[in-house]
Amino acid sequence: MPTHFLRLRDLSDEALENLVDLAIRMKQKPPNRLLAGKSLGLLFFNRSLRTRATFEIAMFQLGGQSIHLSSSADFWELEAEEGKVMDGPAPEHVKDAARVLSSYLDALAIRAVPSGPKYEVDRRDAPLHAWARHATVPLINMESFFEHPCQGLADVVTLRETFGASLRGIPFTLAWTNHPSAQTPSVAHSILHAAARLGMEVRVAHPEGYELDAEVLEGAREAARRSGGSVKICYDLSEALAGTRVVYARSWGSIPLHGQPTVEAAKRSRHREWIVNGAAMRRTDKGKFMHSMPVRRNVVVTDDVLDGEDSLVFRQAANRLHSQKAVLATLLQ
Ligand code: CP
Repeated sequence: MPTHFLRLRDLSDEALENLVDLAIRMKQKPPNRLLAGKSLGLLFFNRSLRTRATFEIAMFQLGGQSIHLSSSADFWELEAEEGKVMDGPAPEHVKDAARVLSSYLDALAIRAVPSGPKYEVDRRDAPLHAWARHATVPLINMESFFEHPCQGLADVVTLRETFGASLRGIPFTLAWTNHPSAQTPSVAHSILHAAARLGMEVRVAHPEGYELDAEVLEGAREAARRSGGSVKICYDLSEALAGTRVVYARSWGSIPLHGQPTVEAAKRSRHREWIVNGAAMRRTDKGKFMHSMPVRRNVVVTDDVLDGEDSLVFRQAANRLHSQKAVLATLLQ
């Protein structure tokens, strides 16, 4: 059974620490040709700028190579259901594609998309786990509906660089923001878990009806109990920002309205005041602004905050490269 990188919560504390330390070391002293002769397959079922670019550049700088395959242009539509009579549109099953690609490549990386209108189905990340079951080489989650561990890792690296080795007790606000469309909760889930696990004083701020997945919240609370941190829910953005040191902005869809985009959009449009602007940042204690990008300027965050000296956004994006290298070196060496 190969070792996969699917969710931050699958990692032991030691494994997470090792990845963060390795990413920081690789940033300070870029390694050479660690992965000479190794090849990585990047399968995208959705668009990407940072993730695709950083994985390709990471493999190149480590002496290996990558191939990029896009579901819209390169490969057959895939069936993921076990035992299915495949008389529908998909001519190939994930189990066959995974087995074939595993025979060519040393690792696979997948960016999946939500599969349908039901939250209970999407939250299981079935396409990702189908690949994980059938790949015989390490599989990396480049973002699924439920998790974005590569982003979470780069975010932890960025927090460590900014605040030092111990993040315990530092107030951290995960702030829901307005957005023209319902976003997946992947980034929010990964950073919530990481911040709670590192002992931060986490505040999750969102309007009523935008509660995060109950199981994810309970997992974060359990991680906080172990680390000495805390997780608190706020329905008032201003209250959640008071005295915080980090504002991590991210939108996510309403679970009760999952699969109903028109109704959900109408509800979301009533929350345009959920934006991170200069007044919001002045409520913080010299707070740093974070976002995973792509970011909607002047909807999610105003230009002055995003381009200001307390914005960590471009550092987060830059750290994706070093974090990706750490994941690749750990899985492939
Ligand atoms: N943050 C992130 O994953 O960016 P991309 O979607 O552009 O890869």
